[in-house]
Amino acid sequence: MTVRIAGIGTALPERIVTNHDLTRTLDTSDAWIRERAGIGSRRVGGLTSEMAIEAGANAMKSADVTPTDIDLLVLCTTTPDQRFPGSSAVVQAGLGLTCGAFDLNAACAGFSYGYVSAYGLMTLPGGPDRVLLIGSDALSPITDWTDRGTAILFGDAGAAVVLERHEQGELLGFDLGADGNLQPILYCDHDSTIKMEGREVFKRAVRAVTRSIQATLARADLVPADLDVVLLHQANIRIIEAVCQRVGMPVEKTHNVIETTGNTSAASIPLAMAEAERAGVLEPGKIVLMSGFGAGMTWASLVVRW
Ligand code: ACO
Repeated sequence: MTVRIAGIGTALPERIVTNHDLTRTLDTSDAWIRERAGIGSRRVGGLTSEMAIEAGANAMKSADVTPTDIDLLVLCTTTPDQRFPGSSAVVQAGLGLTCGAFDLNAACAGFSYGYVSAYGLMTLPGGPDRVLLIGSDALSPITDWTDRGTAILFGDAGAAVVLERHEQGELLGFDLGADGNLQPILYCDHDSTIKMEGREVFKRAVRAVTRSIQATLARADLVPADLDVVLLHQANIRIIEAVCQRVGMPVEKTHNVIETTGNTSAASIPLAMAEAERAGVLEPGKIVLMSGFGAGMTWASLVVRW
């Protein structure tokens, strides 16, 4: 039994905030943000459940399935609309689904954690045939727009995939990790804004993602040269470049959206996947690596045969 991605969908709020817009209220510049993070603009104004519903509907349309075809909804988010219920319940109703639904919070590693979790459930006897896996995060409401260390980085977005049992597609290896001792370097309290030690997160992220990818490739009995498509969490283009250099993967194999979206947490990897799909590189049989990291710290990597 294997699982393939049958459809991909995205949702971006309409409002675009450029680096130039930020310079009106922050001591920063377009050149600095582009050079240090690779970001030119971001979308703001989305609500997690609304973006998830739009992205989910687009993914279902692309997979040519109806609400009754979906057996489970997994919503990866670190910014649920309310303390409870989980926003997955709101999304389930919004999409007209009747299946089970739960939220998964592994911050920016959420989508990778969610993919492996959904795959595991699908391979159980009697497990779901189709899972709607969504990453959706509204980071703008928890961003301190007066803090130039964080305000330049984050945006809002949703992106989703339909996973379905199929003879094509295979999870070849994965690695899930966390180090809760690193909670103080990146967190957001209830009713507060994101607090981050940017330089420390940068260093830790490069180290954790590099090791996680290496562990994943080893478990899959693959080497970096076997990879066709690389989808990394879109936090900072310099983190992506540093990881590629350390692992020994050409940066040309990565597909990135960070320039126009900023860091959209759990939505970032499926957004990059949608970009790779648009580029026409996600053909059956291709070896695709995904790897995310985020607050926790958490990290998660997986490699699939498309
Ligand atoms: N504009 C201009 N100057 C700035 C800005 C800014 N926006 N921000 C910081 N600076 C200044 C600093 O004050 C510092 O000045 P100094 O040398 O006079 O002290 C200088 O630029 C360098 O600051 P650093 O913090 O060392 O800059 P760095 O190169 O590390 O870039 C950044 C900062 C972009 C935040 C980077 O550290 C980063 O991307 N870190 C990782 C963030 C990340 O990945 N977060 C993941 C979140 S995942 C999740 O779960 C939500």
